[in-house]
Amino acid sequence: MRLSTLSSSVFTVAALIPQALSWGVVGHEVVATVAQMHLHPSVLPKLCAILESDASNYDRSCHLATVAAWADQARREPRYRWTGPLHYIGAKDDYPSTSCAFPGSGGWEGRSHINVLSGIRNVTTVLQDYQGDVATADVDEYVQDALKFLIHFLGDMHQPLHLTGRDRGGNDDKVSFDGRVTNLHSLWDTLLIAQRLRTLHRNYTRPLPLPDVENNLRGTIYDPYIRRLVWEGILGKYEHELSSWLTCPTTDRLHVLPLPRWQRVLLWLFGSKSKDGGLDVDDEILCPYHWAQPIHALNCEIVWPTELDQPLYNRISYTSHVSEEISIVDVDDLESFTRRKNSYLELDTPEYAGRIRDEWIVEKLLTQGGIRLAAVLNWLFADSTDSRSGNLLIRKL
Ligand SMILES: *[C@@H]1O[C@H](CO)[C@@H](O)[C@H](O)[C@H]1NC(C)=O
Ligand SMILES: *[C@@H]1O[C@H](CO)[C@@H](O)[C@H](O)[C@H]1NC(C)=O
Repeated sequence: MRLSTLSSSVFTVAALIPQALSWGVVGHEVVATVAQMHLHPSVLPKLCAILESDASNYDRSCHLATVAAWADQARREPRYRWTGPLHYIGAKDDYPSTSCAFPGSGGWEGRSHINVLSGIRNVTTVLQDYQGDVATADVDEYVQDALKFLIHFLGDMHQPLHLTGRDRGGNDDKVSFDGRVTNLHSLWDTLLIAQRLRTLHRNYTRPLPLPDVENNLRGTIYDPYIRRLVWEGILGKYEHELSSWLTCPTTDRLHVLPLPRWQRVLLWLFGSKSKDGGLDVDDEILCPYHWAQPIHALNCEIVWPTELDQPLYNRISYTSHVSEEISIVDVDDLESFTRRKNSYLELDTPEYAGRIRDEWIVEKLLTQGGIRLAAVLNWLFADSTDSRSGNLLIRKL
């Protein structure tokens, strides 16, 4: 989706957002765009050299957002089908909102090392190795895919429902949003963001006096939303915590870094098992497991409504034989329940969607995804001999 001009009213533009737009598109592109604003000046040209080696994909100037949702299309192709489980992770004992385990004593679901956190480590390693080969300038598809997956997976790991396996990350839990039947996963992928775009303050349709921001916007429907994330978030409420988003715990075994690469590989293989849930993905520079923990915890704090496990909603669908049970509930509840067009838990309420909006939960996750993606890319690709200090936003990190 690319609109060459932005209407003066976000509202009219946002009304055209197709329902299919999702974290798979808008969320991922927002994360990628926020990341691009924070790249060291020496980094984007290198990323573009990797991405544009597949020239057939590129008819416009290079931008990370254009590849951010690629992995969701690719997984539907036979040769990439195996990458499906790389988009999420779930622990066997995890059952939000009742109990959140990450991973708990039961360990992880699925095949070992085939999950979003291991995927981030894996593709980062591919890109690190490519750094060594940069002289050959021969970028193969493997490296290009690794970069596209990295951009995508950093987004996925900031969607809390990609970190739980319960009911396929909430895909199987029907809920209602503003009277429309959806499911919990789609609500977080799509509807919360779409609602935010529809209700954004008009002042964000005007460019910000920040070239580093404006130069990375592409005239999309979500430009105003990104301006808000930057203005009120990165330069506002999160200004003083941005660098803490990038810290990793130093482990006693790893604090002696830098080590030669082969020793690091050994440490990943044999070290820090207890420190990162047995995934062996964290080190003191890049620690997706450590970053994921508070995001996963959101599932028990707010994402997974407790009502889904309580009478009226603790069943797949409402049928007439439920009437006996209804008699035990509060009459007011029953009235609003029977008045509604559908019988699913309504989540466009002050207690749920309102709280998520007021606490900036989605906005913080998207911003964290962008900042962390930028940090990983800067770490992988920034030229340490390039003394340009970078832009306003980078200096803040
Ligand atoms: C990444 O994962 C793929 C598929 O499992 C594997 O073939 C490859 O060796 C891994 N690469 C690294 C660097 O871990
Ligand atoms: C836009 O309006 C909101 C709400 O009044 C305000 O908090 C914000 O600072 C404004 N942003 C800009 C860029 O003027």
